[in-house]
Amino acid sequence: MAPQIAPSILSADFARLAEDVALISGTADWVHVDVMDNHFVPNLTLGLPVVEALLKHSALPLDCHLMIEDPDRWAPQYAEAGAGSVTIHAEAAKAPIRTLRAIRSAGARAGLGVNPATPVEGFEDLLGEIDMLLLMTVEPGFGGQKFLDVVLPKVRRARDMIKGRDLPVWVQVDGGVSAETIERCADAGADVFVAGSAVYGADDPADAVRRLKAQAAK
Ligand code: DX5
Ligand code: ZN
Repeated sequence: MAPQIAPSILSADFARLAEDVALISGTADWVHVDVMDNHFVPNLTLGLPVVEALLKHSALPLDCHLMIEDPDRWAPQYAEAGAGSVTIHAEAAKAPIRTLRAIRSAGARAGLGVNPATPVEGFEDLLGEIDMLLLMTVEPGFGGQKFLDVVLPKVRRARDMIKGRDLPVWVQVDGGVSAETIERCADAGADVFVAGSAVYGADDPADAVRRLKAQAAK
């Protein structure tokens, strides 16, 4: 699949979300929305009401990344609200199969996320239940952190696992993805790239997306 870029609005201006989303809607593929509850991660961002408001203003589909406890309760509601993709964390879900199925039956793509130290091998049997595997390349919670190279072999293993089963599952990397790191991620087999500070920290966010996409396609 051609590489896709999902700018994270964690690095946008929360008082001007609609405008900041519009900035990238000509070049990006998704808008990555980081939902944090101050329990699963030590940071608090936004929830369902803001996602519902944003859906009315975004030309791009929303890729909701739920870094929350109890995703089983909340994830289906994001899908029902109209999110294009909803990712739950393997470390937090108590009934991942039920929740992933609920996301899909509400019409969204279902994602399973894993933290840097969580192995993917334990989730091989769930690959048929998901549309995307999100591999965190920083410890979740904050934008602007340093990319963890240590995760790259796992990206490769995840891609091999998916290839081996011949499934159309996307591999997303999230955290520290920039002009310096995106090619390594693409080489390892990632095809969806979340970038927060590398996009919204740039003078021209739309152009930053264009450049990242070109680099990932090399
Ligand atoms: C971190 C979030 C990321 C974050 C990425 O917990 O899940 O989506 O916004 O930001 P950068 O690209 O700045 O590392
Ligand atoms: Zn994220």
